[in-house]
Amino acid sequence: MKVNNVEMIMSAVKPEQYPIEGYPEFALAGRSNVGKSSFINKMIGRKSLARTSSKPGKTQTLNFYKIEEQLFFVDVPGYGYAKVSKSERESWGKMIERYLTGREELKAVVQIVDLRHPPSADDCAMYDFLVHYNIPAIIIATKADKIPRGKWEKHKKIVKEQLDMRKGDPLIIFSSEKGIGVEEAWREIESRM
Ligand code: GTP
Ligand code: MG
Repeated sequence: MKVNNVEMIMSAVKPEQYPIEGYPEFALAGRSNVGKSSFINKMIGRKSLARTSSKPGKTQTLNFYKIEEQLFFVDVPGYGYAKVSKSERESWGKMIERYLTGREELKAVVQIVDLRHPPSADDCAMYDFLVHYNIPAIIIATKADKIPRGKWEKHKKIVKEQLDMRKGDPLIIFSSEKGIGVEEAWREIESRM
C-alpha cells in the first residue's frame, strides 16, 4: 500500500475511547524496545510519527493510527519491561487483554520478535495467548539488518519452532532500518482486510 495520508487519531486506555469508524485494525505486539513503533513508521513511510525511543516503555497507551481512511495500526505498550511497578504492569495487562479479546475490528496481531535471538518466554506466552483466543498473527522478525543475510533462514527456523507457529500465520523477515520486508508485510495485512 502506498501511504499518503496518516492520522494519529487517538490514545485510548478503555473501550469507550476506541475509534468508531469500524475500519479493520492491526495491533502491534512485542516486548518492549523490540521495534513496534519503528515498524509502524517504516510501513507508513514516516520517520517518527509513532514515537520510538532507545528507552524501553515509551508507548504506554493504545495508540491508533488511521491509514488512508482504510485501516488502523494500533501501537500497544510492550511487554517484559521490568522497570514499571507491579500494579502498573497489571493495569497495562488488563488494558491490552481487553482490547485483544474483545475487539471485533481486530483482524490480526502483528507480533514483532527480534530475528537475532530465539523468542523469549514472554514472546512465547504472547503467541500462546493469540492461539488460545484464536486471533490470527503475522510474525515479524525484525532487526534483520543486524545479522548477515546468509544466516536469516537459520534464525527464521528457530523463531518458527520456538513459537510453535500455526500453519496459517506468516513469518516475515524485516528491518525498519533498511526497509526489508515492507512489501511482504503490506501484502499480508491487505489480504486480511
Ligand atoms: P516500546 O514502545 O518501548 O515498547 O518499544 P518499541 O517496540 O516501540 O521499539 P522502538 O520502535 O521504539 O525501537 C526501539 C529501538 O530499536 C530504537 O532505538 C530503534 O531505532 C531500534 N530499532 C527498531 N527497529 C530496528 C531495526 O529494524 N534495525 C535496527 N538496527 N534497529 C531497530
Ligand atoms: Mg513503541
